[in-house]
Amino acid sequence: MAATNDIQYKFPEGFWWGSAASATQTEGAADIDGKGQNIWDYWYEVEPNRFFNGVGPDKTSQFYYKYKEDIKLMKEIGHNSFRMSISWSRLIPNGNGEVNPKAVEFYNNVINELIDNGIEPFVGLFHFDMPMEMQKIGGWESREVVDAYEAYATTCFELFGDRVKKWFTHNEPIVPVEGGYLYDFHYPNVVDFGKAVQVAFNTILSSAKAIKAYRELNQDGKIGIVLNLTPSYPRSKNPADVKASIICDAFFNRSFLDPSVKGEFPEELVQILKAEGFMPQYEAEDLEVIKNNTIDLLGVNYYQPRRVKAKENLPNPEAPFMPERYFDYYVMAGRKMNPHRGWEIYEKGIYDILINLKENYGNIECYISENGMGVEGEEKFRDENGIIQDDYRIEFIEEHLKWVHRAIQEGSNVKGYHLWTFMDNWSWTNAYKNRYGFVSVNLDKDGERTIKKSGQWFKTVSANNGF
Ligand code: BG6
Repeated sequence: MAATNDIQYKFPEGFWWGSAASATQTEGAADIDGKGQNIWDYWYEVEPNRFFNGVGPDKTSQFYYKYKEDIKLMKEIGHNSFRMSISWSRLIPNGNGEVNPKAVEFYNNVINELIDNGIEPFVGLFHFDMPMEMQKIGGWESREVVDAYEAYATTCFELFGDRVKKWFTHNEPIVPVEGGYLYDFHYPNVVDFGKAVQVAFNTILSSAKAIKAYRELNQDGKIGIVLNLTPSYPRSKNPADVKASIICDAFFNRSFLDPSVKGEFPEELVQILKAEGFMPQYEAEDLEVIKNNTIDLLGVNYYQPRRVKAKENLPNPEAPFMPERYFDYYVMAGRKMNPHRGWEIYEKGIYDILINLKENYGNIECYISENGMGVEGEEKFRDENGIIQDDYRIEFIEEHLKWVHRAIQEGSNVKGYHLWTFMDNWSWTNAYKNRYGFVSVNLDKDGERTIKKSGQWFKTVSANNGF
């Protein structure tokens, strides 16, 4: 362990060190103990070819069976907090109605085990996994599903809120909009901008309704949302490039950030939706609910930046409407890359997000809820002692943490850093392609866990509260 006087980047007392994961990506046990199907179980059943190497959500990392071992490892590598999610279709198999007692038992066990090990559970209510019965009646397109979600959220607060003091209504809610309704990487694979807008609006409404329900129960915790706030950097100062980046930011960041924090929608976006004829349907009182039920705490997910320029070509008028009618992406010469995932690495992005929150969003209490480096074929970095030598991940985390530290020096209200993710997990259509964990999961050996070099390093960082 580094001597305390060697610490260059010291973080504030009580900083949250940990990682994040989600139910469908880790639990497995997809069809036993009363769990209902969700859209991933169903989509895999009908189109297994859409998943990398044909690997589905049925088994994943078996957290359902191995949670005690996993939580022990979390403690061993210095976690004082961990974000998990509850599987809606495990807790309420039909999405609405009967609660599954086996699921209550499982989540009680996990929450208690975390607390007994000195790890604060942060709990998300929705991480991309719509119950199939709810999707059948329209998913987030449907008001009925918004009401069912509010009831599900209330059930969770009532069951677990005595011990869980940090709740998150949604994780990256723009992603099911993009994946399910624009770009064809989540079920229901619809390409329809009008539906995408309705889904986004209803998701925001569901978040506000869950927040309202939480506050009405008078529990003494905090409730928020986790957003992927990917900054949109313009190619140049040319006004056309700048305008393109502002519009891109309104579509993909401010669409959820503004209603969540300020209770209102960005004017740039509303103008475009009106001009293009894509305003969603809503009731007047919805806007009041959104306005009056903003978040306490914001989770920030950051992986890579967006680089944007003014559009080069006229769009095909026959093609489905896409946000990209208003901007193009471009590849910045000289960018730094994660060659194992094909994503740009731009560490300063994390600082830019935090400073934006400080300056334009009332310096809302926040934390880095996901950041991380995916590596395809990571087995090749395993040494003769069986340890994955992921120095690239250590460098990735360090370089991002330096910028988080700087933002704190400048007054940012950021309270913690969670890596995506604790152990390698199943990542939707990418299945087990890209590995992100502090802990490796060997699928050929019944999911055997091994702490990577980064996990050992993180333990020291957490113990020293810095590096
Ligand atoms: C994050 C999601 O945006 O990206 C996770 O919240 C996901 O659920 C992660 O697993 C990594 O994605 P990928 O496609 O690189 O495996």
